[in-house]
Formats: sequence, C-alpha cells, structure tokens
Amino acid sequence: MPSLNDIRSTFLDYFARNDHQVVESSPLVPRNDPTLMFVNSGMVQFKNVFTGVEHRDYKRAVTSQKCVRAGGKHNDLDNVGYTARHHTFFEMLGNFSFGDYFKEAAIPFAWELLTREYGISKDRLLVTVYHTDDEAAAIWKKVAGLPDDRIIRIPTNDNFWMMGPTGPCGPCTEIFYDHGDHIPGGPPGSPDEDGDRFIEIWNLVFMQFEQFEDGARKDLAAQSIDTGMGLERIGALLQGKHDNYDTDLMRALIEASANATSADPDGPGRIHHRVIADHLRSTAFLIADGVMPSNEGRGYVLRRIMRRAMRHAHQLGADEPLMYRLVHALVRKMGGHYPELVRAEALVTETLKLEETRFRQTLDRGLRLLDDELARLPDGATLPGDAAFRLYDTYGFPLDLTQDALREKGRAVDVAGFEAAMAEQKAKARAAWAGSGETKEAAIWFDLAEKHGATEFLGYDTDSAEGQVLALVRDGAAIKRAEAGESVQIIVNQTPFYGEAGGQVGDTGTIRTEHGQARVTDTLRAQGLFIHVAEVTEGHITLGAAAELAVDRDRRARIKANHSATHLLHEALRQALGDHVAQRGSLNAPDRLRFDFSHGAPLSAAERAAVQQEVNAYIRQNAPVVTRIMTPDDARGVGAQALFGEKYGDEVRVVSMGRAPGSGKGLDKATYSIELCGGTHVRRTGEIGAMVIVADQASSAGVRRIEALTGQAAIDWLEAQAEQLHGLMGQLKSPTFEDAQKKLSALQAENRALQNELAQLRRELAMGGGGAASGPESRDLGGVKFLAQVLKGVTGKELPGLIDEAKARLGSGAVLLVADAGGKAAVAAGVTADLTERLSAVDMVRAAAAELGGKGGGGRPDMAQAGGSDPSRADAAIAAVEKLIGG
Ligand code: ALA
Repeated sequence: MPSLNDIRSTFLDYFARNDHQVVESSPLVPRNDPTLMFVNSGMVQFKNVFTGVEHRDYKRAVTSQKCVRAGGKHNDLDNVGYTARHHTFFEMLGNFSFGDYFKEAAIPFAWELLTREYGISKDRLLVTVYHTDDEAAAIWKKVAGLPDDRIIRIPTNDNFWMMGPTGPCGPCTEIFYDHGDHIPGGPPGSPDEDGDRFIEIWNLVFMQFEQFEDGARKDLAAQSIDTGMGLERIGALLQGKHDNYDTDLMRALIEASANATSADPDGPGRIHHRVIADHLRSTAFLIADGVMPSNEGRGYVLRRIMRRAMRHAHQLGADEPLMYRLVHALVRKMGGHYPELVRAEALVTETLKLEETRFRQTLDRGLRLLDDELARLPDGATLPGDAAFRLYDTYGFPLDLTQDALREKGRAVDVAGFEAAMAEQKAKARAAWAGSGETKEAAIWFDLAEKHGATEFLGYDTDSAEGQVLALVRDGAAIKRAEAGESVQIIVNQTPFYGEAGGQVGDTGTIRTEHGQARVTDTLRAQGLFIHVAEVTEGHITLGAAAELAVDRDRRARIKANHSATHLLHEALRQALGDHVAQRGSLNAPDRLRFDFSHGAPLSAAERAAVQQEVNAYIRQNAPVVTRIMTPDDARGVGAQALFGEKYGDEVRVVSMGRAPGSGKGLDKATYSIELCGGTHVRRTGEIGAMVIVADQASSAGVRRIEALTGQAAIDWLEAQAEQLHGLMGQLKSPTFEDAQKKLSALQAENRALQNELAQLRRELAMGGGGAASGPESRDLGGVKFLAQVLKGVTGKELPGLIDEAKARLGSGAVLLVADAGGKAAVAAGVTADLTERLSAVDMVRAAAAELGGKGGGGRPDMAQAGGSDPSRADAAIAAVEKLIGG
C-alpha cells in the first residue's frame, strides 16, 4: 500500500518527468494577496504569473502546496473531526502551465497519472465539464474513451473556478471517483449528489479570464492550466479507505494521540483524536511559517485552532498538556518533504506547551461555568450570548470553541447576543478612552483601530507583500483619495513595514496601486495601527485599493544588522563590566546603533577591546537567531533581559542568539543573548558582518552611551581610520607604525625642551632682557620699593614665577606685573614677607583688575592674581596700585 509520502512523490515525479519544474510549496501566509488569510490552493503563489504581471523562468510547474482553510472565506474548522473529508490543513497537489499547454494536454496528463501511475480503474472514474465547454468534453471522449453519461455537463459555478471576487479564473473539469452502489449518493449534478458515493478527486481549471472589481471579465494574454487534488483524498482512495482520517499519515497521528492519552483511537473519544490529529498539523505548519498565537488576525485563528484541540484533549481526560507531545510524531511523518517542520520542531513544541499550560488554567473553570449555565437552562435551549461572551472574555474561550462544546450536546449559542455583548464592551472601552484626555488627533487612530482592528505585521518574514488600503488620513481627517504631490498617512490591513518602536526606526519604501504610487518616508504606530507616512509620487491612491508594499530592502537589512548587534553588544557589556549593566535606551537606525546602559565610567581600552572582540566572535559564529513567544515570567525564567519598569503584555517575543556552551542562559544553558524584543533581526549572526565601537560618552549621570557601526559601515570606518594613520605616517616619513611612534616620541620630547627654553627666554626678555641683574627700576612709594611692568606675549600662568623672581631681586618691596595677551589681560601682584603686614597683594590685584575690566582677584597677602578684558588700560592699573601703596 503506498503511503501518502509515496503518493505525493509519484505525483511530483510524474510531472517532473513531463518537463515540469518542481516548485516548493509557498509559505501558508500569502505574500501576494491582500485579502487572503491563508494560502488555500496551489495557484495562490502563481496568481501574478497567470495574469502576466510576474514572470518565472519555467512555463510548467508542479507543487504540493500546504493549505489552511480556517478563518476567512473558506472555513472548514467547524466540521473538522465530525466528517470524513474536512481538514483545517491539507496538501494540494497541482500541475500548472503558464501559457504553455492547455486543455489538450492537461486532460491526458491527468488521465495517465490516475489510470497508469496510480492504477485507478477507468470504470470507476467520471468527469464533469462546464456546460458550454464542448472542447473539454471532446478531449475527454477521445483521451479517456468515457461514454457520454460519464462526461456530465454542469451549468453552475461548480464548474467555473474563481479564486475570489477578482483574479484569474476559468471553466473547469472535475474528476470524480465512484465508490460503488453500496454507498448512498448520486452523480454530480443529480439531486442526491451530496451523498458519499461519488467523490471529487481532482479539479483541472482552464485559466483563460481575469475578473476585475468593476465586474469586467477580460481574456488572459495566455491560456493557462491550474489543477488541484487533495493529497488526503487521493491517498484515502489509493489506500482503499473511505475516510481521509484512515490514511497512514492521519492514522499515525491519531494513534500518537491515543497512546499519549491511553484512550482507544476508535472508542468514544474517536472524534477527539481526529480533531487533535488535524489541528496538530495546521498548528505546526502555521507556527513553522511564522504565525504566532495572538489575539488578532492570523494569530487569533491559530489560537482558536489550538484551543479547540486542547478542549478535545481535555475531553479525552488528558491531565497534562498533550499536543506538544505529539509534535515529534508529525515531524517524523512529514518532515521529510517539509524541512521547515524539522527546523521549527523546537519552536512548535515550545509554543504549544506554553499555550496549553496557560489555557489549562482557565479551561477547567470555563467548562464548569458552561455546565452550570446549561444546567440552569431548559433542555435544548440555546446558550445566552452574554454567557458565551463571559467565557470568551474571562476564560479565553473563542466562540467556536464554545459552539463546538455545545455541538456535542446538541445545543447552540445565541450568536447575535454574543456579538451584542462584544459591542457593548467596545463601547465601554471607547468611553473610558475618551475620558482619558487623549488628543483629538489621536481619536482618528482609535476610531480606525476599532473599525479595522490592528494592522497585521508581516515584516518579520518578508520585506514585500500585498495589502488593502483601509484608510487614508490627511491633517487628522479621513479622506477617500490622495493625489500626486500630496502628503498622506496610509493604513493597510497587513504590511511588511516596521512601525517605529523599541528603539528601531520605522521602515521606508514604496506603496504601489493600480493607479498610483507613494513614497513612504516613515512608519509609525498608534492603537495597533501601522501608519505609513507617505507622499503620493504618481497618479493617485484611493481607499480600498489593493496595494503592493515594498520596504527599502537595503535600509532594512542595515537596521536589522544594527538591531541584532545591539543585543550582542548588550550581553558583551554585561560580561565585561558586570550584571549592573542594564539597557537604558537604544537606537537602531540604518547608519548606526546607539546603546545607553547603566555604568558609571568610560570603558577602559582593555574593556572596549574585550567587548568588541566578543561581539565580533559571536558574529563570526553565524548562529541562528531564534524567536519565541512566551509569558514575561517564563521569559525572565530563561534569563531574558527585559527593560526594568517596562509594562509587558501577556505575551512577549523573545529573541535569542549565539551559542555559549556551559556558560549561557536559556533552558539549554547554552544561549548567549536572550532579550524581550519586538524588533526585526538577521536570520543568522553572520549577516551582521562586523561591529566596531566608534564612541563612548556619558549620556546622563550613571549612564553611558556607546555608538557603533556594523557591516559595510564598520569596514568603511576602519578603512578610513587606517587611511588617516597612513597619512600621518607619510607626514612623519615613517615606513612602519613603530618608527612613527618613535619619531613622534622624539618630536614630543624635543618640543617640550624647546617650550621650556622658549619660556625662559621670554621671561628674561620681559624682565629686562639679557642678564637677571638688570631690569626695570623700582620706585619708592612712601618707603616701599615698588616695581611695575607691562609684559607682552606672556601668559597669566607664567606671572607667579616672574613675581617670585622680581621679589627676590627687590629683597623688600612690592611688584605688579600686567600680562598683555592681546584682548585679554592678566595681572599678578607680590609683596615681600616683611611688608605683608602693611600691604596685601590681594588689594593690589583688586585695584588693578578694576581698571583692566576684570573683577575680584584672589590669592594670599604675598601673592595674588586676577584677570581682565582690557590690557590697554595697563598704565591706569599701575597708577591705581601706586595710589594704593602711596596712600
Ligand atoms: N485552484 C483550483 C482549486 O483549488 C485547482 O480547486
């Protein structure tokens, strides 16, 4: 019996042999569709290839595409577990032609694969075609030899396939399998077609039109082929099963669930095992593709799936978290074809365990409340909406979980009542917000957030995506259209642009719609909305338009490198300086990073070198950067650095990088850096390239600020330094650095000697030139010998030495020296010890300074100094002192 893995390989190999490029499944989160919640068919990744907007270097492709149908338009969640063929996650096998072959080849390919490769008996197969599609009917007749009654013409949209309200579309032909007349049901198109006898296995779409928003339907430039066959369905058929959950793959998961709970896989808990098996797959693949449980958007769909599965685990009597223990069984079965599952195994396991551990705390209490409510109601009555709302609000029960729990009891929920209770809560939140003194400007963001919900951020995984324009705001008011040249703030439902937060600057880039283009100069956040600050550069941007959003990729790459380097720098500083190092602020910009941290002194040269070397060693380690979602407490438990005093929500992103075996943090005690962080990061540390510290300054009391560069900027900086050094060596005519050092030391010594000599000569010159004995004559002022002189080119610093010399020469007397430094004056006075009783040098400089435009003056009675601003008044200063001494 072929396994599902074999059946997938047979499909891919068959089309590969027929010149199809084997293309990997795209991630579950669509990059190129603004309205789609998850990829739900194989053609999604080729949408733009069909319409001719995008070109690939192949014209034939084959894929096994991961699909999720839960949330959004195609929602199978409610039925999963109860039916034979509903899944939230499934694989769609498909072959594609982009303007290459059309019906004439698509039909024979399908027929040959089914009847020859898979060995399905021709007698069991029948097909439908669109009622006007004579061509397809004729090809079926010719290729398969099917009689007319097994080529059924269908006039409805069942045989006209559209991916959504707009986009590529066309008539299709569907291939059905007849399970035999022992099973009830009629052929397609008959009144009892919904029975289980005739099961659709493959849909071949003849893509030939493009549907537009205004209702127009135009021919595609090239006729193309898109086909889709659910692996689980064809697998069941080829394994002789009627139920997809009986295939080898699903059965392995069901048995893993049964083993872990000791509950018979086919006993009363049968449905629970089926739900768990299905939800395990969607959960694991969504997490592996970057979706994390949250209370908004895709993350909330994931959370709903997880919680629904957890309730079923609870129904099986599992006392401990269950789902996370089943991940390995899934990876064993599917990791061979989907390596992303192997890579994400630890993340999936941890995320499930955390969510299960937390939800168990409220699940029991919520279920008890539900039982109490039901006991109070008459038999069969619906659950009032406010009770369902309380379960949602207090116990974290998504509405569909409550509905699922009631379904087993044959009951329903008053959904309108639930929605009314939800609306009332929102109204209260709004009233509280309005009362909190927010500005009028902020009100528009509150309104928009309430109307549209938070913007979904896709930028952790991609730098371009499609979104839908939900609002245009100019000068605080919503507008419908912005023209070229206008500044506008743009809100979309999902965006790859990072909104400024946590020290990381906002992204820039472009937003393009069918009719216009805008340049995004910054991205900000308010009320969970990402606000693209933009200027329309071409045409116009209108409300509701589908938009291609492209982040300036190089700039973002540099920001990411700087942000990841900041984490390494933080840890390296802690290692070098001690545990008191805590983050006080940061900036992660494209051109540099800045990190403020608590520490009282500049880094010594050795500390700086150690920090820089350690960061660069971890960069070279090229270790993967791993992101998880945790509770703040758990995050601290594994040693994550958090900002002190910061308020964190119920869940935080935790970013880890670097291997530090034996000395690290984390559950494995081997992780170098772990931080709470919502920013974007490199995938591996090697992408940072290099880091160099370029500044270390005091930022405020007890806080240092380091600036650093990474990547090319770091290399440029180091090169510039080297160039400057070489320039200096050239000036010194030194062939080596050592020689330059020696020459510089020699020059410094020579300079010092010359300075001393010069000072001596200046003093001598100033005090009368030549010999020390001669000099200006002193005068007798009432019995005191007074010597006064104005000195040019002498600095204030030199005056005390000169005063001492002059006093020695006088033996007994007073000296006043005024230094004229051009625009600035300095004055010093000296009194020999025998006279200090009578005369104070301090009084002398004060009198002089008053004339020189200075103030005050200070010193001791035998020596004092002052400054002034007007040296031209030197003579007046001397006269004032003469008067002071002479009385
Ligand atoms: N895109 C087609 C489908 O999903 C093949 O059925």
